[in-house]
Amino acid sequence: MMKHRRDRYYWRAKEEGYRSRAAYKLKQLNERYNVIKRGDVVVDLGAAPGGWLQVAKELSGGFVLGVDLVDIQPIEGVLTLRGDIRHADVLEKLFRVTGGADVVLSDAAPNLSGNWSYDHARSIDLATAALHFAEDLLESGGNFVVKVFQGDLFDEFYQRVKRVFATTRIYSPPASRKESAEVYIIGIGRLSAPFHLGDSFDVVIEDVGRSGDGIVRIDGFVVFVGGVDKGEHVKIEITDIKPRFAFAKVIG
Ligand SMILES: C[S@@+](CC[C@H](N)C(=O)[O-])C[C@H]1O[C@@H](n2cnc3c(N)ncnc32)[C@H](O)[C@@H]1O
Repeated sequence: MMKHRRDRYYWRAKEEGYRSRAAYKLKQLNERYNVIKRGDVVVDLGAAPGGWLQVAKELSGGFVLGVDLVDIQPIEGVLTLRGDIRHADVLEKLFRVTGGADVVLSDAAPNLSGNWSYDHARSIDLATAALHFAEDLLESGGNFVVKVFQGDLFDEFYQRVKRVFATTRIYSPPASRKESAEVYIIGIGRLSAPFHLGDSFDVVIEDVGRSGDGIVRIDGFVVFVGGVDKGEHVKIEITDIKPRFAFAKVIG
């Protein structure tokens, strides 16, 4: 593969003591979406050489953990593990060490072969592994950032991320190289609802709230339903999910 030009982010990283120019992608992304907050527990997948770990540590000041196939040179206050994020034992290990996270980041990327559709498919594989981590590790309301190379499997993957987070965005930071096909998918607000958008249920309206919407609990999760009375039996469809409650409409 052709060596990349040494651009201004490369020199800036050298000057400012970051291990990679990628550090600026996370900084730019965080300025825009505020995914990492003070005190957050952050897990970074595909973290070597560690530029994102340095930025994550600065932003959160909390517990930061990085995983990669290759060793990561020590960073003060950051724990690192060697492992393949596609393997279940790595997820188990991370869960044991953290007990859950506020933010899951993945900048993991395959070594590029030059065969476009093959590289795209491998990028989607890694992104899918990262989404599993996010689903299993993130606390309710937690945030997710994942790198994906664009291609024909992108939309399907994006729809999967959308089912897990209250808000989802696609972002290409200025520090990404112009010629790069990479974009970042950002999931904000991990949903903890025991159902997905579009699911339907037969329910009995338990109560009517101050707003006039009916209230029903599905596995303890509050769902607001417009235009119903207390005690009514209705079939509802979930139309919007927030981290702590959802909305539904009557479909029968
Ligand atoms: C673009 S680099 C990450 C740069 C990093 N964000 C930084 O700022 O220093 C991508 C990394 O993903 C790692 N990676 C690729 N496949 C992986 C896998 N299956 N499990 C863990 N790490 C993987 C690579 O070893 C590589 O270090």
